[in-house]
This record gives sequence, structure tokens and C-alpha cells, in this order.
Amino acid sequence: MRNAKMTLDKAYEIGAIDRRLYGSFIEHLGRAVYGGIYEPGHPTADANGFRKDVVDLVRNLDVPVTRYPGGNFVSGFNWEDSVGPRESRPKRLDLAWFTTESNEVGLHEFIEWCKLANTTPMYAVNLGTRGADEARAVVEYANHKGGSLYSDMRVKNGAKEPFGIKLWCLGNEMDGPWQIGHKTAREYGRVANEAAKVMKWVDPSIELVACGSSSLDMPTFGDWELTMLDECYDNVDYVSLHRYYNNRAGDTRAFLARSVDMDVFIKTVASICDSVRGKKHSKKTLGLSFDEWNVWFHSSDQDKEIWKRDKWGRALPLLEDAYTFEDALLVGSLLITLLRNADRVKVACLAQLVNVIAPIMTVNGGGAWAQTIYWPFKQASQFGRGTSLRVIVDSPLYDCKDVESIPELDATATLADDGSLTIFAVNKNLNEDTLLSVSLHGFPKYRAVMRSVLTHDDMNAVNTETNPSEVVPVSGDAGKLDGDKLEIVIPKHSWNVIRLI
Ligand code: AHR
Repeated sequence: MRNAKMTLDKAYEIGAIDRRLYGSFIEHLGRAVYGGIYEPGHPTADANGFRKDVVDLVRNLDVPVTRYPGGNFVSGFNWEDSVGPRESRPKRLDLAWFTTESNEVGLHEFIEWCKLANTTPMYAVNLGTRGADEARAVVEYANHKGGSLYSDMRVKNGAKEPFGIKLWCLGNEMDGPWQIGHKTAREYGRVANEAAKVMKWVDPSIELVACGSSSLDMPTFGDWELTMLDECYDNVDYVSLHRYYNNRAGDTRAFLARSVDMDVFIKTVASICDSVRGKKHSKKTLGLSFDEWNVWFHSSDQDKEIWKRDKWGRALPLLEDAYTFEDALLVGSLLITLLRNADRVKVACLAQLVNVIAPIMTVNGGGAWAQTIYWPFKQASQFGRGTSLRVIVDSPLYDCKDVESIPELDATATLADDGSLTIFAVNKNLNEDTLLSVSLHGFPKYRAVMRSVLTHDDMNAVNTETNPSEVVPVSGDAGKLDGDKLEIVIPKHSWNVIRLI
């Protein structure tokens, strides 16, 4: 048995947790939309073709914001194609994913789906092939009350009330050579600034996310943020971060250590934003929008085969990662990392939501189920609200390839508005349990109300349509609470939620 200590104090706060930390993402990619959220003729589909089984799983995840319509897809997308009578909407070649987009589901349909799924839209504009003019037009279409070309077009298309989309992305991953309309940092900064300016002139209440680097590994990382923010700092509210992790090397300990990389990425981007703030003598502090994060690698080989077979097909089963138990552990640790940075990260989107590198999977015409990564996300989204606490964890450390001194026990805590305290913990030790001693300062007479554990003997265990409960959280021993001391065993390789009130 290993030993670890955790100290928390009600007065030591990191900051308020923005609800949008538990956002997600639906892109016109693979079966996210067609066969995912939308499948007319499916036994659970409503009159608009939305799958109720999927809606139920999304509502259960409690996702306050959903990014849409891309992703790489948005950089070649004409928003006008996606509104108006369905029969007149064009079929387009999607050069981002080499498929054909039917535009059967568009802006109005997505807004309707958001209402069903109890989420709100985060809408990306195309700054790849298009620019400020189209960006301000779509804001007018979506948010202006009426009496102008685009707002009247929306009314004619059936939506009298404005959609009121509050959060907008200024393009997607514009630093990446794979992006349609890839730009240099200076070019992007200029176009983002001009788009931001006119979008806010149309609706000053909106918030805007500028594209940061598409990964910490980009050769332009750092310079990209400095240069593009030099152009658009004053007109934007957030900078985006994107990061995907993989265990191609088959080294679980190194894989589980990747949460440290996310922490470094966040802190580095925050410092760069602040250095631009200093240079500009600005009073504004930019927030961070970690609007793509997840594990992504299981489906790569399969995708190459699909493209060989069926380039330009419709709703191809792309990026369909089957997530393992070990992926769920890393996702848990990444959620803990986001909570620890809740003072700066205001929006985060698990990429993505359904079928495409997603917590929810479906079979066309068949069932829908929760993948392993659904569970830590659901529990963090459910209980990790309120205030993020600044906890001190004293854990044994381990070294692995490339990184040293990784805490075996990754843990944090949140204080909800109803006074309940939640501890989240991932034990990365693969061989031994850990006895965790928690000092709870400022929580008199609290009692344990819930203990949940997600663990499995097989790191590669997955959930499937026929066996959806192979990896699910179960109730565990609530430990020993004596005054302000809690002693609790955190099993080897596990995700844990401990609640007290
Ligand atoms: O989420 C899948 C893709 O990953 C997105 O389209 C893109 O932004 C990123 O590279």
C-alpha cells in the first residue's frame, strides 16, 4: 500500500468554475451528425429526425455548450448552404474530410437539437475560404431581431426569434497546413481582428474565441499566439487550445502522465496572453478556450482504409475510436487538470460528442451506448461545479520516458454552491493501492454521502453495444471520517469521486 496526503481548506480557492468547462463538440464529420444526433427513420427518432436515445445520453452528460459545425470542416463551409428549404440545399464536397456533405442538417436544425439536448451553441465561422463579410452576415442572420436582409431571411426560414448565439469561434486551427485556407499568424491575426470587429458591431453581446495553436507541438507554437494576438487582442475574449493524446507506444504509465503536458500547455498560453496584455497596456485578461481535447488514435488505420474504399462517401464511419479503460483514466486526469486551471480556462470542449472520437456511440438503426470516457466526464460535469479549490497533494512520484516526477495520485476538489465538497482522484499506480489521508479544513461536521470508483483489471476493456456496462463506475467504501480527517483507500489504476456534505 502506498501513502498520499491531501490538504484542503474552504478558504483556499482557485476560482469559480465556468459551467462551459464541460462543453463538447459536434462537427460535420463522419457519423457525428448523420447517424449520430440525426437519423430519420430510427426507432427513437422524433418528427425532426433527432435520435432520442442519443439526446438522453447527452442530457445525462450535462453539456452546457456544444461547438459546431467544425473543426476542419468549417474552413470550407458556406453557412448559407445550411439554411432554407432542405430540398434546395446543395451537396458539397467536403475537402477537410473527403466526404460529401448533404446539408440536410444545418443551422436551424442544430439550434433545435441544442434545445432538446439541453445545451447551447458555440458557433464557428469560416475564416479559411471566407472572411469578415460572411462572418458578420451569419451573426446578423442568427442574432439580429429582424428588419435587415439576413435577419429577415432567418424569419422567412421559420425562426421569428433570434437564436441568440453568445459564443463564436473565429475559424479553426488556422495555423495548420492541413487547414483549408491556412494562414500565417499575421494574416490570421488581421482577418480575425477585422471579423471580430464587425461581428461585435452587429451584436456587441457576443464573445469571441481566436484560434491559438492547434497543438503544443506545432513548430509555430508561441510565435503564433504572440503575433496573431498582436493584431486582434483588443477585439477577442478567448484564445483556443487544442490537444489530443495517444498511447501508440503502448506505455500506460507515460500515457497517464500526459495530463502534465496539458497543464504546461495551459500555463504557457496564459503567460503568452499576459505578455501581449503587458505590451499593449491592456486592462483586459484573456480567457482560455480549450475547445478540442481528448484521446485520439485508435481509429487512424481504419480511417485510411475507409478513405481508400469510399472517398467522397456520405457519413463515413470516420474517427470512431473505441475507448479503453486506460483512456478513461487519462480523461479523468485531464478533467482534474482543467479544474485546477479553472481560473483561466473558461470554456473547454471534449472533442467530440457522438461517434467521432466520442463518449457516445451509435449503430445506424441500432443502439446507442456510453463509452468508457463518458463516465469521468459525466461525473465531473455533474459534481465539479461551483468553486475549484486549491488543494495540496503530497503523493509518491514516478518517472517515465520524457517526463519525471509525475504524482501517482492526481487529485483535486470542488465546492458546490449547496456546500457539498467533491474530491476527484486518479490513481496512476498500476500495481498498488494508495491510502489517502485528507485534512479537511473548514468543513465541520461533514459526512460522506457518495463514493464512486471506476476501475477494471484489463486496461484495454471497452464498452460495446451488446456489453455497454463493462466499464462503469460502482459505489465504493466511503473511508473513515474522524473530525476533519478522512482516510480512504484509492485502488490502483482507478478514477474516484468522493462526496461529502
Ligand atoms: O476533432 C477532429 C479534428 O481535429 C477537428 O476537425 C480539427 O479541428 C482537429 O484537428
